[in-house]
Amino acid sequence: MRMGLGKNRVRFNLCFRCVRLFFFLGSLLPLPALTQNERQPIQQVNPSPSPRPDRIILTWQTEPATSQTVTWRTDQSVKTPQAEIALSDASAYFTNYATTFPAATEALKTANGEALYHSVNFSKLSPNTLYVYRVGNGTYWSEWFQFRTASKQPEPFSFIYFGDVQNQIFSQWSRVIRAAYAEMPKAKFMLFAGDLVNHAEDDTEWQEWFTAGSFIPATLPSILVAGNHEYARNAAGLPRISRHWDPQFNLPGNGLKSQQDLVYYTDYQDMRIICLNSYWLVPAQARWLEEVLKNNPKKWTVVACHYPVFSTAVGRENENLVKHWQPLLEKYKVDLVLQGHDHTYARGSNSPAGNTKNASETGPVYVVSISGPKMYTLGDRIGIARSAENTQLYQIITVDQDSLLYKSMTVTGELYDAFTLHKKKGEPSRLTELPKDVKTERRFNNTLKIPTK
Ligand SMILES: [Fe+2]
Repeated sequence: MRMGLGKNRVRFNLCFRCVRLFFFLGSLLPLPALTQNERQPIQQVNPSPSPRPDRIILTWQTEPATSQTVTWRTDQSVKTPQAEIALSDASAYFTNYATTFPAATEALKTANGEALYHSVNFSKLSPNTLYVYRVGNGTYWSEWFQFRTASKQPEPFSFIYFGDVQNQIFSQWSRVIRAAYAEMPKAKFMLFAGDLVNHAEDDTEWQEWFTAGSFIPATLPSILVAGNHEYARNAAGLPRISRHWDPQFNLPGNGLKSQQDLVYYTDYQDMRIICLNSYWLVPAQARWLEEVLKNNPKKWTVVACHYPVFSTAVGRENENLVKHWQPLLEKYKVDLVLQGHDHTYARGSNSPAGNTKNASETGPVYVVSISGPKMYTLGDRIGIARSAENTQLYQIITVDQDSLLYKSMTVTGELYDAFTLHKKKGEPSRLTELPKDVKTERRFNNTLKIPTK
């Protein structure tokens, strides 16, 4: 992650450009076929669909204050998929007041059998109201889950941000989502910065993701960004989003026409969350991004993408994003850019152009984080305020009027990184560093060793 323009750019010499070109071209090559050795033996989860609903997840297709979408999976025996919803009440008789909605259904054939994905968009809900819902077919039902709609007012709220999940999902990522939920069960949503799985079309890995999350994705809505590992190749060798993405994640569809569920935004109270697809059609998204930033009525703006604008390691630079997106992020004073892909942790920011007087004034704060167990090393980057290797993390971000509190937590519950952003109309946000539980930055040379065989 490099922060700041001008003289620092001289470090990007021709050699690095060649390396970047190599990596970019490499990313366009057909993905290698899986070999037996690459697949971990997975026996912890049962991925087969059944008449009983599973893979239940909340997302938003429309306004979070008045709607909530739920999606779930069954086998093909289910002919009458439906969802019931009621106002929640401390009395168990809320069930007598439930309304039933028929579901829309989409089929998906995978190596684990032919599945049906069902979805209902509950609409005309009341803002800031606790609801209870279940999904099923009249015979087999899920348990009742509770969720609360967003407020119409800019009230304080928190959300959870996860870097890459990707590997050992059930075995070693489950503890991260569960620790995050235990820390902030009243978070309003979870934001995933891509690479949810390792192999885009591996249905068992998707089962691991849902099993690791258990009831949490059915309770806290998800906002999802696609990473490179959500991509496979079509017959012509061109990138194609996982066949799971569309039936599994029902998203706003307010983005680019060609990437409706990959490039979109969600307005949650006084925050606009913009999800971009850093893997494909980057220049085309710039035009859309500028419109969405220019016509943004919200006080706070978060952009989420998988490839980081500023990489944490040499050879992983993303010049395409620096060229097409970074000027817009600066121009429209985006507050946070939440990213993944580099399997390390790093946080830094660009000071506004020409600002030498007050170093605490900041442009966008760029973060790369990692939640899964696969770890890379940090490169020799400039301008990183806080970083880590070999550490599973999650982030809790809280906004309250003109201040934003950012906390990065280790999976073991220690505060690893923290700062606040203060907003003053017409001025850049002001960043204040906060004390951390972990004083010494974590590196491979001062943390647990990688096992040797
Ligand atoms: Fe990635």
